[in-house]
Amino acid sequence: MKRVLLFFILLLPLIFASYELFVIENVKDPIKYIYTFTGTWALVILFFTITISLIKKWINLLKYRKMIGLFGFFYSLLHFMNFFILDAELSISFVVKESLDKPFIYLGMISFLLLIFMAITSKKNLYVKYNNYHKVVYLALILSTIHFIMAQKSLDLLQFSYILIILIISYFKLLQQILKKNKI
Ligand code: HEM
Repeated sequence: MKRVLLFFILLLPLIFASYELFVIENVKDPIKYIYTFTGTWALVILFFTITISLIKKWINLLKYRKMIGLFGFFYSLLHFMNFFILDAELSISFVVKESLDKPFIYLGMISFLLLIFMAITSKKNLYVKYNNYHKVVYLALILSTIHFIMAQKSLDLLQFSYILIILIISYFKLLQQILKKNKI
């Protein structure tokens, strides 16, 4: 039951965005809108997956971590499809040119490739073999955060709040790793 509820909650951003895009049709620039909602939700959900072990004393979501992580990947896949299908209109040369011209796209690409690797190896039989490599999620998150900051012309209050939350989560995550290493 909890799993179904969580599944529905994680789908809500997509339902909400589809409603705005296709039902009330009040979006002026759909490509920009899809970039913002898919990119932001991918980042929020992926950061949440690394927060799960920090909050497990109060709320234990460890057994749903894989599903939550896959939703993060799902939103980043939509983000990439927006780039490739709607923005680049399936033109490989546009993708290559944009990647070379704009380093932030290059960083997004590397992060996305890391997420593909994690999504594929999250399958039970592969996870046993590759779970050690799943630490690349931290690299993917660092690159995605730089990508997100570089994508902005200027930062507003909401974006500053995202960065502050990211810094707080990173601080506690680092502390957790240090304590674990020293077995305190
Ligand atoms: C597949 C490679 C990626 C490409 C080609 C890409 C492309 C883009 C582009 C073009 C923008 C700027 C949109 C605009 O404002 O005009 C953007 C913004 C953004 N991207 Fe990506 N991205 C990629 C991967 C990722 C990943 C993996 C994440 C997160 C996990 C991410 C999160 C974001 C965020 C949060 C923004 C800022 C959205 C906003 O504030 O409007 N991107 N991306």
